[in-house]
Amino acid sequence: MSNIHAVVLAAGQGTRMKSKLYKVLHPVCGKPMVQHVTDTLAAMKVEDVVVVVGHGADAVRAALGERVTYALQSEQLGTAHAVQQAVPHLAGKEGVTFILYGDTPLLSADTLRELLAYHQAEQAAATVLTATFADPTGYGRIIRNEAGEVLRIVEHKDATPEERLVREINTGIYCFDNQKLLAALKQVNNDNAQGEYYITDCVGILRDAGEKVVAYIARDPDETMGVNDRVQLSQAERYMRLRINEQHMRNGVTIQDPASTYIEADVTIGADTTILPGTHLRGKTVIGSDCLIGPQADLRDVTVGDGVTISYAVLVESAVEANVSVGPFAYVRPGTHIAAGAKIGDFVELKNARIGKGSKVPHLSYIGDAEIGESVNIGCGTITVNYDGAKKHKTIVGDQAFIGCNTNLIAPVTIGNNAYVAAGSTINQDVPDDALAIARERQVNKPGYAAKLPRKQRNQE
Ligand code: UD1
Ligand code: CA
Repeated sequence: MSNIHAVVLAAGQGTRMKSKLYKVLHPVCGKPMVQHVTDTLAAMKVEDVVVVVGHGADAVRAALGERVTYALQSEQLGTAHAVQQAVPHLAGKEGVTFILYGDTPLLSADTLRELLAYHQAEQAAATVLTATFADPTGYGRIIRNEAGEVLRIVEHKDATPEERLVREINTGIYCFDNQKLLAALKQVNNDNAQGEYYITDCVGILRDAGEKVVAYIARDPDETMGVNDRVQLSQAERYMRLRINEQHMRNGVTIQDPASTYIEADVTIGADTTILPGTHLRGKTVIGSDCLIGPQADLRDVTVGDGVTISYAVLVESAVEANVSVGPFAYVRPGTHIAAGAKIGDFVELKNARIGKGSKVPHLSYIGDAEIGESVNIGCGTITVNYDGAKKHKTIVGDQAFIGCNTNLIAPVTIGNNAYVAAGSTINQDVPDDALAIARERQVNKPGYAAKLPRKQRNQE
């Protein structure tokens, strides 16, 4: 969008969060609050975005990267003071400037578009996005005259008891004519309860100067909530979670219980997939179509193909191809790739392992730093002994190999194609293709010997 600028305020400490983490970096559905705001601007194609940073400036910069420009507010003297730090960037520009706060993560691009359209249609100097809250405590109130025109905004702490009865609040989201904003900013003082320079004063300043100041009432008040403490953080999380889940359902995903399904903002899911309760899908997870995920599946940064079943399992930074089944009770750690049609069963841990097409690791195994070929059967209790106390070593198992139960594969070691390892073996040498390896003590039977052994409970007559 040309001649549309945005300033996002993100310099505050967020004292009310009582946290080491700066407020705007607290995640809502897995994404820092301030990034929700900048992503919304990006979705609207607003390219000229300045983020005002102060507390935790480096951390905010690291989270948002190079997509936005930064202005530093080294001392937090209020929201108008914060916007003033962006003035060098705005000076000389025409058009409209959005002002947004980094602590209103729920705001949608649709609402911003409506606000902008209204601002432009009204040809206003300033347009405030407002909302009506049953409990407006803490928010700035919109003061109108009898004709209903917006006169100014009064902060909760500065409001008279009568003004506090007003339930129409300032969401902290505004459109300003850029040049008029710059002029108004020069007149803001800090003569108020908090001794701060308030951006909200620009509204009254412009109105007093005879400029047109209007309000656009948000259709969905919940979307405009500001997050100042952890109670509001949890409310924002719940709202965003239901919104994300609803979007997936509209796209053809079945979510049995949206209230207990946790899908982060950037996850994608194919149609006709069913998500069962207690499931967490995090980060850049991508799920294909026709999958059954859950109950109780926890996936972070995992790519899942079509027709996959995952139940009661934790998967991290891994890839799962089509028609694989994982769980119940499996732990798939980073760097794992499970090829099509493979089966990973109960109490199996995989780490940095490649499991070939159609191979099975059905129960009670640890497969780490390994390459398992196609159509391999890994018997119950198989362990890759990958760590010698100093270094990790690799295990390679060829196609169609059969590893008997309770085998230790002491890496580095290679089992050939079609090879067979007898149950209970401890393998520390390579096994050639098509060979049978047996590496265990031979069994000895001693006839009649049992009677000579002491046994407490023998023949209790
Ligand atoms: C602000 C508004 C209030 C509105 C509410 C909506 C002002 C004076 N008040 O109050 O009218 O109803 O938001 O949620 O604007 N920040 C800076 N530098 C500063 C101070 C704040 O960058 O010097 C940033 C904060 O990081 C935060 C945002 O500005 O992201 C808003 O500040 P906050 O202290 O949360 O304001 P509220 O008291 O919520
Ligand atoms: Ca706030």
